[in-house]
Amino acid sequence: MKKNNDNIIPEGFFWGGAVTSFQTEGAWNKDGKGPSIVDARPVKEGYSNWETAVDFYHRYKEDIALFREMGFNAYRTSISWSRIFPDGEGEVNEKGLQFYDDLFDELISNGIQPVITLYHFDLPLALAQKYNGFASRKVVDLFDRYARTVFKRYGHKVKYWLTFNEQNLVLTKPQYWGVSLDGVDHKEAMLYQVAHNVFVAHAKAVKSLHELVPGGQMAGMVTYLATYPNTCKPEDVIANMKTKELLVDFFFDVFSNGEYPTYVIKDLERKGIIPIGEEGDAELLKENTVDYLSISYYQSQTVSAEKAATADEKGILSGVTPNPNLKTNEWGWAIDPIGLRVCLKDMYARYRLPIFITENGIGVREELNDQNTVEDDYRIEYLSEHIKQMKVAMEEGVDVIGYLTWGSTDLISSGGQFEKRYGFIYVNRGESDLRDLKRYKKKSFDWYKRVIASNGEELDALMSKSVR
Ligand code: BG6
Repeated sequence: MKKNNDNIIPEGFFWGGAVTSFQTEGAWNKDGKGPSIVDARPVKEGYSNWETAVDFYHRYKEDIALFREMGFNAYRTSISWSRIFPDGEGEVNEKGLQFYDDLFDELISNGIQPVITLYHFDLPLALAQKYNGFASRKVVDLFDRYARTVFKRYGHKVKYWLTFNEQNLVLTKPQYWGVSLDGVDHKEAMLYQVAHNVFVAHAKAVKSLHELVPGGQMAGMVTYLATYPNTCKPEDVIANMKTKELLVDFFFDVFSNGEYPTYVIKDLERKGIIPIGEEGDAELLKENTVDYLSISYYQSQTVSAEKAATADEKGILSGVTPNPNLKTNEWGWAIDPIGLRVCLKDMYARYRLPIFITENGIGVREELNDQNTVEDDYRIEYLSEHIKQMKVAMEEGVDVIGYLTWGSTDLISSGGQFEKRYGFIYVNRGESDLRDLKRYKKKSFDWYKRVIASNGEELDALMSKSVR
C-alpha cells in the first residue's frame, strides 16, 4: 500500500463496519433458508428472537447507500450456510446463492469491498441434530463442500475471507459450533477434539480458497481479550501467560505456523487427551497457513493466580478478573484502548502477518431524542481512542490493513438483546416490538464520515468538549 505524505495510515486502508448474517438479515425462513442453531436458541425473557433482526435482507440497498455516504470501502458480513444448504448437506439452494450475489454486487457498485466470514456461530440446525456439529468429521467435510461452493460462486467478487468467527471460543463455547457436551464423560477431551476438527476445517478452507481463487486472502480470526497480570507478582505473570496461551496464542500459532505449539501438546499428552486425527491432518495444517490475521477487540481483563487456584470450576477463564483501573459499559466490558495496541504489537512481533481489525465497538442502551438522532459522544470517544492507539501501533511498525467497527446499523447483540446498540445508524425497533425499523443517523455517523474522508486524521472532529 502507498502512503500519503506523513499520514501513518496508507491509502487503500480499509474503513467500514462489520456484522453477521443472523444479527442483521432477518428473513430467517425466506427463499428456502433452512433453520440454523441460532434460530433454535431459546429466547430469553425480554430479549429478541432472530426472525426479523433489522431486516437487512429486504433493506440492504437503503443501508448500503448510507454506508457509501459514510465513505466505507469495506463491509464485513457472513454468509448464512443454511441459506446455501438448508440442511447443511443436501441440495444447494439457488435463491440463497442469488441473495449474496445481489448483495455483493450492490456493495461493489457502491465502492465497498465485501469481507466475508464463512461461519459465524450459525450451523445448519440439521447438522447439530444429526452429527453433534463439529464434534463429527462428517461436518468438517460438509463445511469444505459449502466453502468450495461459495468460493466458486463469489471468488471473482470477494478477495478477503475469514474462516470462522472468533475461532478461539471453540474451547469455551462449543455450542457455537453446534456441539452439545451433554452426556460426554471427558468434557475437556471432547473440547480439544472439536478444536482439532475446526482447525482441520479451517485449513481445508484455506487450501480450497487458494486453489479456486487466485489472489484470495484468508484469515484466521480470534476475539482478542487482552489480559494483564493482576499484580506484578511472578505468580500472576505466569498465570496470565498460561491463560493467554489457551485464549489466544494457541489459535494464532496454528493459523500462522501450521502446527500445534508445544505448550498445548505437552499439556494434552500429560492429560492423555491428544485429539484423534486422520492421516494427513498434520500436513494439511502445515501446508495451509493464513494470509493475514484478524481480530475482534472490545475489552481487557486481568488474571490472578490466586483466583485460578481457588476457583470452584477449573478452566481457561478461572483466573480472569476485572481490572479495577478501567471503566466499563453497562455490560461490564472494560474500556481499554491501550489494550488494543498491546494486542497488535504482540501479534505482529510473533507472526509478522498483516492484521485486519474486523470488530471494535461499544454496546450502549440508546433512544432517539426529539431531533430524531442520538448524541453518542461516548461512542465517538471510544472509537477515536482505539483508532489513536491503532495508529501508534502502526507508527511502531505494526502492519494493520483495515479497521472495521462492530455494527453499522444497530443489530441484535450476540446474546439476543436488541437494546445493546452498536451502530452509527439507529434502527427504530425494540426487543419484541418491531415498530417501523426506520433508520436514523446518530451523531457518530458524521464523525465516522470525517474520519474516513481524512483517512484517520480527523479523529477529534465533532467530539463534544466534555470528552475531548
Ligand atoms: C463478537 C461477535 O464476539 O462480539 C459478535 O463476533 C458480537 O457476533 C460482538 O455481536 C459483540 O458482542 P455482543 O454480545 O455485545 O453482541
